[in-house]
Amino acid sequence: MTPPRRHLWIAAAIWAVLSIVGAVLVAGIQIIPVIASREAGIENSAFVLLAVLSVPVLMFVVVGLAYSAIWFRANGDEADGPPIHGHRGFQAAWLGISFALVIGLFAYGAAGLVDIRGAQTADFEVQVSAEQWAWHFTYPSTGATSKELHIPVGQRVHIVINSDDVIHSFWVPAFGIKQDAVPGRTTEIYVTATVAGTYPGLCAELCGFGHTNMRFTTVVSNRAALKAWLRKQKPGSEGSQPPPSGSESAS
Ligand code: CUA
Repeated sequence: MTPPRRHLWIAAAIWAVLSIVGAVLVAGIQIIPVIASREAGIENSAFVLLAVLSVPVLMFVVVGLAYSAIWFRANGDEADGPPIHGHRGFQAAWLGISFALVIGLFAYGAAGLVDIRGAQTADFEVQVSAEQWAWHFTYPSTGATSKELHIPVGQRVHIVINSDDVIHSFWVPAFGIKQDAVPGRTTEIYVTATVAGTYPGLCAELCGFGHTNMRFTTVVSNRAALKAWLRKQKPGSEGSQPPPSGSESAS
C-alpha cells in the first residue's frame, strides 16, 4: 500500500511535467490569425499569457481527477467516503495563489489597455461613416472620400466613427480593433498598422438584411504611396458621401 504522501508527490510530479510541456506548446501559438498592428500584437500577447497560465490550472484538475479515478477507485462500493475536514495550509495557498493570479492578470490587462487606448494623439485621421449597408471613409487632410480604407504604415491613426441609421460595428480583425458605430454619437478608436498590405474589414453588429455584405477593404501603405493615392481621390468623388464639412444628413 502506497502511503498517502507518496501519492501526493507522484501526482504533483505528473502535474508539473504536463504543465511545463503544455505551457511550452501553448506559448508558441499565435492566437490572432493575422497580426498587422501594434494593438493586435499586444492583444495576442495577452491571449497567449492567459492560455499559458490556464495550462497548470487545467492540469491540476485533470491530473487530480484522473489520478484519483485510477488509484482510489471504490470498486462496487457506493457508500459515502469518510468526511474530510479542511486543511488550513491548503486553503490559504488556494486563496493566495488565486488572488495573486487574478490581481496580476488585472494589472497586466490594465497596462495593456492603457497601452492600446491611452494616448489620444495621432499622426493621421480618417472619418468613418456607416449606413445600411456600406462604409464611407473621409480623409480630413485632403477632403478625399473613398469606399476603401487607406492608412499609412507605422503611424498612429485616429479613426472617428459615425452611423447614419442603426448601430454598426467597425472591425478590422488583423488590427485587433473593433468599435461600434452609434447613431447620434461619435465614437473613436486608434490603430498603428505595422505591416503594409490589404486586410478585410467588416461590420460586426447585426444591422439588417445586408449585414453580411457590409464589408470593406483596408489598404496599409507607406506615407508616399498614401499621399499619391489621396491626390487621385477627388473630394466627394465617391458619390453617396455628404461633404466632409457638412452635416451627417442622408444623401
Ligand atoms: Cu452594419 Cu452589420
